[in-house]
Amino acid sequence: MGIALPAEAPPKERIAERLAEARERTMLLIEPLDDEQLNRVYSPLLSPLAWDLGHIANFEEEWLVRRVGGLEPMHGELARLYDAIENPRAGRNELPILRGGELRSYMRGVRARTLEVLEGVDLDAAADPLLRGGFVYEMLLAHEHQHGETMLQLLQMFERYEPARRDPGPAAEPVSVGPEMVRIEAGEVEIGDRGQGFAYDNERPRHAVRLDAYEIDRVPVKNGEFARFVEETGAPPPKYWERDGEGGWVRTVMGETKELDPLLPVVHVDWHGADAFARWAGKRLPTEPEWEAAARGADPARANLDQLAFGCAPAGAYADSPADGGAVQMLGDVWEWTSSDFTAYPGFEAFPYAEYSEVFFGPGHKVLRGGSWATRRDVIRTTFRNWDLPERSQIFAGLRCARDVG
Ligand SMILES: [Fe+2]
Repeated sequence: MGIALPAEAPPKERIAERLAEARERTMLLIEPLDDEQLNRVYSPLLSPLAWDLGHIANFEEEWLVRRVGGLEPMHGELARLYDAIENPRAGRNELPILRGGELRSYMRGVRARTLEVLEGVDLDAAADPLLRGGFVYEMLLAHEHQHGETMLQLLQMFERYEPARRDPGPAAEPVSVGPEMVRIEAGEVEIGDRGQGFAYDNERPRHAVRLDAYEIDRVPVKNGEFARFVEETGAPPPKYWERDGEGGWVRTVMGETKELDPLLPVVHVDWHGADAFARWAGKRLPTEPEWEAAARGADPARANLDQLAFGCAPAGAYADSPADGGAVQMLGDVWEWTSSDFTAYPGFEAFPYAEYSEVFFGPGHKVLRGGSWATRRDVIRTTFRNWDLPERSQIFAGLRCARDVG
Protein backbone atom coordinates (compact mmCIF):
# COMPACT_ATOMS: atom_id res chain seq x y z
CA MET A 1 0.00 0.00 0.00
CA GLY A 2 3.04 2.24 0.20
CA ILE A 3 2.07 3.91 3.47
CA ALA A 4 4.48 4.16 6.30
CA LEU A 5 3.34 5.16 9.74
CA PRO A 6 4.85 4.67 13.17
CA ALA A 7 4.20 1.14 14.40
CA GLU A 8 2.78 2.40 17.66
CA ALA A 9 -0.66 3.94 17.52
CA PRO A 10 -1.10 7.21 19.39
CA PRO A 11 -3.08 6.66 22.61
CA LYS A 12 -6.78 7.26 22.23
CA GLU A 13 -6.89 9.98 24.87
CA ARG A 14 -4.32 11.93 22.88
CA ILE A 15 -6.42 11.56 19.73
CA ALA A 16 -9.52 12.76 21.58
CA GLU A 17 -7.62 15.76 22.98
CA ARG A 18 -6.32 16.73 19.56
CA LEU A 19 -9.77 16.41 18.01
CA ALA A 20 -11.09 18.70 20.75
CA GLU A 21 -8.27 21.20 20.20
CA ALA A 22 -8.93 21.31 16.45
CA ARG A 23 -12.61 22.00 17.07
CA GLU A 24 -11.82 24.69 19.65
CA ARG A 25 -9.75 26.49 17.05
CA THR A 26 -12.46 26.22 14.40
CA MET A 27 -14.94 27.71 16.85
CA LEU A 28 -12.47 30.42 17.94
CA LEU A 29 -12.16 31.62 14.34
CA ILE A 30 -15.93 32.02 13.98
CA GLU A 31 -16.52 33.29 17.53
CA PRO A 32 -16.80 36.98 16.48
CA LEU A 33 -19.34 36.19 13.73
CA ASP A 34 -23.13 36.04 13.65
CA ASP A 35 -25.26 33.64 11.57
CA GLU A 36 -25.74 36.18 8.80
CA GLN A 37 -21.94 36.39 8.36
CA LEU A 38 -21.60 32.61 8.44
CA ASN A 39 -24.09 32.34 5.59
CA ARG A 40 -22.87 35.23 3.46
CA VAL A 41 -21.10 34.66 0.13
CA TYR A 42 -18.16 37.02 -0.30
CA SER A 43 -16.48 35.43 -3.29
CA PRO A 44 -17.36 32.81 -5.92
CA LEU A 45 -13.97 31.27 -5.07
CA LEU A 46 -14.91 30.57 -1.46
CA SER A 47 -17.78 28.80 0.27
CA PRO A 48 -19.90 30.49 2.90
CA LEU A 49 -18.39 29.61 6.28
CA ALA A 50 -21.52 27.62 7.17
CA TRP A 51 -20.70 25.21 4.32
CA ASP A 52 -17.14 24.72 5.61
CA LEU A 53 -18.45 23.98 9.11
CA GLY A 54 -21.02 21.46 7.87
CA HIS A 55 -18.44 19.90 5.58
CA ILE A 56 -15.92 19.52 8.43
CA ALA A 57 -18.53 17.66 10.49
CA ASN A 58 -19.82 15.64 7.54
CA PHE A 59 -16.31 14.52 6.53
CA GLU A 60 -15.82 13.42 10.13
CA GLU A 61 -19.13 11.56 10.07
CA GLU A 62 -18.29 9.82 6.79
CA TRP A 63 -14.85 8.63 7.90
CA LEU A 64 -14.86 8.31 11.70
CA VAL A 65 -18.49 7.32 12.29
CA ARG A 66 -19.60 5.52 9.13
CA ARG A 67 -16.39 4.05 7.76
CA VAL A 68 -14.64 3.25 11.08
CA GLY A 69 -17.72 2.63 13.25
CA GLY A 70 -20.08 1.20 10.66
CA LEU A 71 -22.88 3.44 11.95
CA GLU A 72 -25.63 5.01 9.88
CA PRO A 73 -25.35 8.78 9.28
CA MET A 74 -27.45 11.18 11.37
CA HIS A 75 -29.10 12.73 8.28
CA GLY A 76 -28.88 10.45 5.26
CA GLU A 77 -28.80 13.08 2.52
CA LEU A 78 -26.01 15.31 3.84
CA ALA A 79 -22.98 13.66 2.26
CA ARG A 80 -24.11 14.81 -1.18
CA LEU A 81 -24.39 18.45 -0.08
CA TYR A 82 -20.95 18.51 1.47
CA ASP A 83 -19.06 16.67 -1.25
CA ALA A 84 -16.41 19.20 -2.28
CA ILE A 85 -15.94 17.75 -5.76
CA GLU A 86 -19.65 17.46 -6.60
CA ASN A 87 -20.42 20.96 -5.37
CA PRO A 88 -18.20 23.69 -6.78
CA ARG A 89 -17.66 26.59 -4.40
CA ALA A 90 -19.72 29.12 -6.37
CA GLY A 91 -22.97 27.20 -5.90
CA ARG A 92 -22.63 26.11 -2.30
CA ASN A 93 -24.88 28.76 -0.82
CA GLU A 94 -27.83 27.62 -2.94
CA LEU A 95 -27.67 24.16 -1.37
CA PRO A 96 -30.00 23.29 1.51
CA ILE A 97 -27.02 23.11 3.88
CA LEU A 98 -27.37 23.15 7.66
CA ARG A 99 -27.35 26.57 9.26
CA GLY A 100 -27.64 28.16 12.70
CA GLY A 101 -28.59 25.93 15.63
CA GLU A 102 -29.13 22.91 13.41
CA LEU A 103 -25.57 23.17 12.11
CA ARG A 104 -24.09 23.48 15.59
CA SER A 105 -26.05 20.53 16.93
CA TYR A 106 -24.97 18.39 13.93
CA MET A 107 -21.32 19.26 14.64
CA ARG A 108 -21.73 18.30 18.31
CA GLY A 109 -23.74 15.16 17.48
CA VAL A 110 -21.13 13.85 15.07
CA ARG A 111 -18.33 14.53 17.53
CA ALA A 112 -20.13 12.61 20.30
CA ARG A 113 -20.51 9.59 17.99
CA THR A 114 -16.88 9.88 16.85
CA LEU A 115 -15.71 9.62 20.46
CA GLU A 116 -17.99 6.62 21.10
CA VAL A 117 -16.56 4.84 18.07
CA LEU A 118 -13.01 5.71 19.12
CA GLU A 119 -13.60 3.98 22.48
CA GLY A 120 -14.30 0.67 20.79
CA VAL A 121 -11.74 0.67 18.01
CA ASP A 122 -8.48 -1.29 18.25
CA LEU A 123 -5.81 0.82 16.61
CA ASP A 124 -2.90 -1.41 17.61
CA ALA A 125 -4.16 -4.60 16.03
CA ALA A 126 -5.73 -2.94 13.02
CA ALA A 127 -5.50 -4.94 9.81
CA ASP A 128 -7.15 -2.03 7.99
CA PRO A 129 -4.49 0.40 6.70
CA LEU A 130 -6.94 3.21 7.34
CA LEU A 131 -6.84 2.52 11.08
CA ARG A 132 -3.28 1.34 11.47
CA GLY A 133 -1.26 3.84 13.47
CA GLY A 134 -4.37 5.99 13.74
CA PHE A 135 -4.03 7.15 10.11
CA VAL A 136 -7.70 8.05 9.64
CA TYR A 137 -7.68 10.20 12.79
CA GLU A 138 -4.57 12.04 11.59
CA MET A 139 -6.30 12.58 8.27
CA LEU A 140 -9.37 14.03 9.98
CA LEU A 141 -7.30 16.36 12.15
CA ALA A 142 -5.40 17.61 9.11
CA HIS A 143 -8.68 18.12 7.27
CA GLU A 144 -10.21 20.30 9.98
CA HIS A 145 -6.94 22.24 10.34
CA GLN A 146 -6.75 22.83 6.58
CA HIS A 147 -10.32 24.09 6.45
CA GLY A 148 -9.36 26.64 9.10
CA GLU A 149 -6.94 28.13 6.57
CA THR A 150 -9.65 28.18 3.89
CA MET A 151 -11.94 29.98 6.33
CA LEU A 152 -9.19 32.52 7.02
CA GLN A 153 -8.94 33.16 3.27
CA LEU A 154 -12.57 34.24 3.35
CA LEU A 155 -12.16 36.23 6.57
CA GLN A 156 -9.59 38.42 4.75
CA MET A 157 -12.51 39.72 2.66
CA PHE A 158 -14.82 40.59 5.56
CA GLU A 159 -15.72 44.26 5.97
CA ARG A 160 -14.95 43.83 9.66
CA TYR A 161 -13.33 40.96 11.55
CA GLU A 162 -11.81 41.38 14.97
CA PRO A 163 -10.14 38.10 16.00
CA ALA A 164 -11.19 36.66 19.36
CA ARG A 165 -7.51 36.07 20.21
CA ARG A 166 -4.24 37.30 18.69
CA ASP A 167 -0.58 36.35 19.10
CA PRO A 168 1.63 39.46 18.68
CA GLY A 169 4.84 37.36 18.82
CA PRO A 170 5.56 36.75 15.14
CA ALA A 171 5.21 40.41 14.07
CA ALA A 172 7.77 41.36 16.76
CA GLU A 173 10.40 38.80 15.67
CA PRO A 174 13.75 40.50 14.98
CA VAL A 175 14.89 40.78 11.36
CA SER A 176 18.23 39.31 10.34
CA VAL A 177 20.74 40.50 7.78
CA GLY A 178 22.51 38.12 5.47
CA PRO A 179 23.33 37.38 1.83
CA GLU A 180 20.57 37.84 -0.74
CA MET A 181 20.83 34.21 -1.81
CA VAL A 182 22.25 30.96 -0.43
CA ARG A 183 23.95 28.32 -2.53
CA ILE A 184 22.85 24.69 -2.54
CA GLU A 185 25.48 22.36 -3.98
CA ALA A 186 24.75 19.83 -6.74
CA GLY A 187 23.90 16.34 -5.65
CA GLU A 188 21.34 13.62 -5.32
CA VAL A 189 18.58 14.48 -2.84
CA GLU A 190 15.85 12.34 -1.32
CA ILE A 191 12.44 13.88 -1.94
CA GLY A 192 9.18 12.97 -0.22
CA ASP A 193 7.85 11.46 2.99
CA ARG A 194 10.34 9.80 5.34
CA GLY A 195 7.68 7.57 6.87
CA GLN A 196 8.10 8.99 10.38
CA GLY A 197 4.57 10.31 10.81
CA PHE A 198 1.40 11.16 8.96
CA ALA A 199 1.79 12.14 5.32
CA TYR A 200 -0.54 12.35 2.34
CA ASP A 201 -0.36 9.93 -0.56
CA ASN A 202 1.03 12.66 -2.86
CA GLU A 203 4.21 12.90 -0.70
CA ARG A 204 5.03 9.26 -1.40
CA PRO A 205 7.01 7.34 -2.34
CA ARG A 206 10.28 8.91 -1.26
CA HIS A 207 12.63 8.97 -4.22
CA ALA A 208 15.99 10.33 -5.31
CA VAL A 209 16.30 13.38 -7.54
CA ARG A 210 19.56 14.69 -9.03
CA LEU A 211 19.91 18.47 -8.74
CA ASP A 212 22.46 20.83 -10.27
CA ALA A 213 23.89 23.51 -7.99
CA TYR A 214 21.58 26.52 -7.56
CA GLU A 215 21.01 29.56 -5.44
CA ILE A 216 17.80 30.37 -3.62
CA ASP A 217 16.71 33.59 -1.92
CA ARG A 218 17.58 33.56 1.76
CA VAL A 219 14.22 35.16 2.67
CA PRO A 220 10.81 35.46 0.98
CA VAL A 221 10.23 38.32 -1.49
CA LYS A 222 9.12 41.49 0.33
CA ASN A 223 6.24 43.90 -0.36
CA GLY A 224 8.71 46.69 -1.14
CA GLU A 225 10.44 44.64 -3.85
CA PHE A 226 7.16 43.53 -5.34
CA ALA A 227 5.87 47.13 -5.39
CA ARG A 228 8.94 48.15 -7.40
CA PHE A 229 8.23 45.36 -9.90
CA VAL A 230 4.60 46.46 -10.21
CA GLU A 231 5.63 50.12 -10.78
CA GLU A 232 8.27 49.29 -13.38
CA THR A 233 6.33 46.73 -15.38
CA GLY A 234 2.72 47.75 -14.90
CA ALA A 235 2.01 44.21 -13.68
CA PRO A 236 -1.20 43.79 -11.66
CA PRO A 237 -0.68 44.31 -7.92
CA PRO A 238 -1.32 41.50 -5.41
CA LYS A 239 -4.88 41.04 -4.21
CA TYR A 240 -5.96 43.55 -1.49
CA TRP A 241 -3.51 46.26 -2.61
CA GLU A 242 -4.81 49.69 -3.64
CA ARG A 243 -3.20 52.99 -4.57
CA ASP A 244 -3.14 55.41 -1.65
CA GLY A 245 -3.52 58.46 -3.94
CA GLU A 246 0.03 59.66 -3.23
CA GLY A 247 2.01 57.18 -5.27
CA GLY A 248 2.11 54.55 -2.54
CA TRP A 249 0.02 51.53 -1.67
CA VAL A 250 -2.40 50.53 1.05
CA ARG A 251 -3.57 47.06 1.85
CA THR A 252 -7.04 46.20 3.21
CA VAL A 253 -7.73 42.88 4.94
CA MET A 254 -10.28 41.92 7.61
CA GLY A 255 -11.79 45.38 7.25
CA GLU A 256 -8.59 47.23 8.15
CA THR A 257 -6.71 49.47 5.72
CA LYS A 258 -3.00 49.96 6.41
CA GLU A 259 -0.07 51.48 4.59
CA LEU A 260 1.85 48.71 2.83
CA ASP A 261 4.76 47.51 4.98
CA PRO A 262 7.72 47.15 2.58
CA LEU A 263 9.53 44.72 4.89
CA LEU A 264 6.82 42.06 5.18
CA PRO A 265 6.75 39.10 2.81
CA VAL A 266 4.47 39.76 -0.15
CA VAL A 267 1.29 37.68 -0.01
CA HIS A 268 -1.79 37.04 -2.20
CA VAL A 269 0.32 36.84 -5.35
CA ASP A 270 -0.88 34.53 -8.13
CA TRP A 271 1.50 32.17 -9.91
CA HIS A 272 1.71 34.36 -13.02
CA GLY A 273 2.74 37.34 -10.88
CA ALA A 274 5.26 35.25 -8.97
CA ASP A 275 6.79 33.89 -12.17
CA ALA A 276 6.92 37.37 -13.79
CA PHE A 277 8.52 38.87 -10.67
CA ALA A 278 11.23 36.21 -10.67
CA ARG A 279 12.09 36.87 -14.33
CA TRP A 280 12.10 40.63 -13.74
CA ALA A 281 14.56 40.05 -10.90
CA GLY A 282 16.83 38.06 -13.27
CA LYS A 283 15.95 34.84 -11.48
CA ARG A 284 13.30 32.11 -11.72
CA LEU A 285 10.93 30.21 -9.44
CA PRO A 286 12.52 27.18 -7.76
CA THR A 287 11.40 23.73 -8.84
CA GLU A 288 9.64 21.65 -6.24
CA PRO A 289 12.68 19.44 -5.50
CA GLU A 290 14.89 22.53 -5.27
CA TRP A 291 12.50 24.05 -2.75
CA GLU A 292 12.37 20.85 -0.69
CA ALA A 293 16.15 20.41 -0.72
CA ALA A 294 16.60 24.02 0.44
CA ALA A 295 14.03 23.51 3.22
CA ARG A 296 15.77 20.48 4.73
CA GLY A 297 16.24 20.99 8.47
CA ALA A 298 13.67 23.81 8.74
CA ASP A 299 11.92 23.70 12.11
CA PRO A 300 8.15 24.26 12.20
CA ALA A 301 8.45 25.15 15.90
CA ARG A 302 10.38 28.33 14.95
CA ALA A 303 8.12 29.64 12.21
CA ASN A 304 5.09 31.89 11.91
CA LEU A 305 2.44 29.18 11.71
CA ASP A 306 -0.79 28.45 13.56
CA GLN A 307 -3.02 31.33 12.50
CA LEU A 308 -3.15 33.56 15.55
CA ALA A 309 -0.64 36.15 14.31
CA PHE A 310 -3.27 37.03 11.65
CA GLY A 311 -0.45 38.21 9.41
CA CYS A 312 3.22 37.82 8.52
CA ALA A 313 6.43 38.17 10.49
CA PRO A 314 8.98 40.43 8.77
CA ALA A 315 11.04 38.85 5.99
CA GLY A 316 14.26 37.59 7.59
CA ALA A 317 12.69 36.67 10.93
CA TYR A 318 13.44 33.34 12.65
CA ALA A 319 17.07 33.47 11.48
CA ASP A 320 18.10 31.66 14.68
CA SER A 321 16.56 28.57 13.10
CA PRO A 322 17.58 28.43 9.44
CA ALA A 323 17.24 25.42 7.16
CA ASP A 324 20.42 23.36 6.71
CA GLY A 325 21.34 25.30 3.57
CA GLY A 326 20.99 28.70 5.28
CA ALA A 327 17.60 29.89 3.98
CA VAL A 328 15.19 31.22 6.62
CA GLN A 329 11.39 31.24 6.86
CA MET A 330 11.05 28.28 4.52
CA LEU A 331 8.11 27.28 6.74
CA GLY A 332 5.31 29.62 7.73
CA ASP A 333 4.37 33.20 6.79
CA VAL A 334 3.55 32.61 3.10
CA TRP A 335 3.10 29.58 0.86
CA GLU A 336 5.79 29.77 -1.80
CA TRP A 337 4.97 29.15 -5.44
CA THR A 338 7.25 26.74 -7.30
CA SER A 339 7.66 26.34 -11.06
CA SER A 340 6.43 22.74 -10.86
CA ASP A 341 3.11 21.27 -11.94
CA PHE A 342 1.36 19.05 -9.40
CA THR A 343 2.25 15.54 -10.54
CA ALA A 344 2.51 12.04 -9.07
CA TYR A 345 5.85 10.90 -7.71
CA PRO A 346 7.17 7.77 -9.47
CA GLY A 347 5.34 4.77 -8.02
CA PHE A 348 2.47 6.82 -6.57
CA GLU A 349 -0.51 4.94 -5.13
CA ALA A 350 -3.72 6.74 -4.21
CA PHE A 351 -4.63 6.39 -0.51
CA PRO A 352 -7.16 6.44 0.99
CA TYR A 353 -9.17 7.98 -1.86
CA ALA A 354 -8.39 9.27 -5.35
CA GLU A 355 -10.18 12.57 -4.74
CA TYR A 356 -7.52 13.76 -2.31
CA SER A 357 -4.65 14.10 -4.78
CA GLU A 358 -4.95 12.02 -7.89
CA VAL A 359 -7.79 13.88 -9.59
CA PHE A 360 -5.76 17.11 -9.36
CA PHE A 361 -2.55 15.79 -10.93
CA GLY A 362 -1.63 17.39 -14.23
CA PRO A 363 -0.44 20.62 -15.78
CA GLY A 364 -3.44 22.66 -14.51
CA HIS A 365 -2.19 23.06 -10.95
CA LYS A 366 1.06 24.57 -9.65
CA VAL A 367 2.67 23.42 -6.42
CA LEU A 368 3.11 25.66 -3.38
CA ARG A 369 5.32 24.77 -0.42
CA GLY A 370 6.01 25.68 3.18
CA GLY A 371 2.70 26.75 4.72
CA SER A 372 1.58 30.22 5.73
CA TRP A 373 0.74 32.08 8.94
CA ALA A 374 -2.78 30.67 8.45
CA THR A 375 -1.60 27.03 8.42
CA ARG A 376 -1.83 25.02 11.64
CA ARG A 377 1.59 23.92 12.90
CA ASP A 378 0.57 20.25 12.89
CA VAL A 379 -0.23 20.35 9.18
CA ILE A 380 3.07 21.49 7.78
CA ARG A 381 6.32 19.65 7.07
CA THR A 382 9.03 20.18 4.47
CA THR A 383 7.58 17.42 2.26
CA PHE A 384 4.00 18.79 2.31
CA ARG A 385 2.66 19.64 -1.17
CA ASN A 386 -0.09 22.19 -1.69
CA TRP A 387 -1.45 22.99 -5.15
CA ASP A 388 -3.69 25.52 -6.81
CA LEU A 389 -4.63 27.06 -10.12
CA PRO A 390 -2.03 29.57 -11.38
CA GLU A 391 -4.55 32.43 -11.39
CA ARG A 392 -5.51 32.06 -7.73
CA SER A 393 -4.52 34.82 -5.30
CA GLN A 394 -7.00 34.48 -2.43
CA ILE A 395 -4.60 31.90 -0.95
CA PHE A 396 -1.78 33.07 1.33
CA ALA A 397 0.83 32.76 -1.41
CA GLY A 398 4.11 34.57 -1.94
CA LEU A 399 7.44 33.41 -3.30
CA ARG A 400 11.18 33.24 -3.13
CA CYS A 401 13.35 33.06 -6.25
CA ALA A 402 16.09 30.73 -7.39
CA ARG A 403 18.93 31.01 -9.90
CA ASP A 404 21.23 28.61 -11.76
CA VAL A 405 24.91 28.80 -10.94
CA GLY A 406 27.71 28.03 -13.35
FE1 LIG B 1 -12.55 19.33 2.72
